[in-house]
Amino acid sequence: MRVVETLSKLRAQIKEWKRQGLTVGFVPTMGNLHAGHLSLIELAKQKADKVVCSVFVNPLQFGPDEDFECYPRTFEEDRQKLAEAQADLMFFPSVQEMYPHGQEHQTKVLVSQALTGLLEGASRPGHFDGVSTVVLKLFNMVQPDLAVFGQKDYQQLKVIQAMVEDLALPVKIVAAPIARNADGLALSSRNQYLTDHQLQVAPKLQVALMDVALALESGNRNFADLRHAAQEAVLAAGFDTVDYIEIRHPETLLESSDQDQAFVILAVARLGETRLLDNILLSLG
Ligand code: PAJ
Repeated sequence: MRVVETLSKLRAQIKEWKRQGLTVGFVPTMGNLHAGHLSLIELAKQKADKVVCSVFVNPLQFGPDEDFECYPRTFEEDRQKLAEAQADLMFFPSVQEMYPHGQEHQTKVLVSQALTGLLEGASRPGHFDGVSTVVLKLFNMVQPDLAVFGQKDYQQLKVIQAMVEDLALPVKIVAAPIARNADGLALSSRNQYLTDHQLQVAPKLQVALMDVALALESGNRNFADLRHAAQEAVLAAGFDTVDYIEIRHPETLLESSDQDQAFVILAVARLGETRLLDNILLSLG
């Protein structure tokens, strides 16, 4: 696997692959890779001839009080994991390479507040602007035929899909299912901060979401009651706080209505300082 740190070398390699008629799949990440990220590489390999994975901790998507400086940077482990997963190229640009004029970009990509101002965006103003801006820039650098995003970050996936559709970007977005531990816990780099006891509690978040899904399947449309019951169950299981449990339309992310046939149930809850995200997509009929 090649490791490339500059845009000029990246472009030369991509040009060569395209000249050979090969397709390029792309998996953007911020590194500190785990099996969830590697499942995206696996999916990209099934769908494209060559796979590029970027590892870049993007300052633009961190708020002033967030953990940009502390975000784990594990280049050597990431390089090994990507090589084992048989990625073809690891793009590892510096902040200077990505933002040569500093972060005060003249140009930003802002996806509508209707999609970015709620759920995760409500507590992280500007976060999705930083995500869409860096992802479009990475797309222009890598020029992939397809790019894989995890359903784990469901709202992020929807924001990227909206950007691609609205701006007619020539890249196919592939959604990868959430990779989970055997006990159901969604894989996340944050899981490493959990104590043994918290690791016992953590899978109960998914259990509560599955109970909501079962109730929806059996025709229950008392959304407020379902959300309340799930919240109580998560707290009773040992979570310290619940940021939200929401039942939403899977495309608009607006609150579900009685006639809907598809739902996304999204939750964020905390164990101590650690914020765990999960969601379940449900399609009826
Ligand atoms: P990061 O948090 O590193 O995640 C990279 C990709 O891995 C995202 O598409 C995310 O949804 C996916 N992922 C993480 N855990 C997963 C799991 N358990 N199952 C399936 N997919 C999982 O998301 C970002 O980085 C950044 O915002 C980025 C898009 C790279 C832009 O900077």
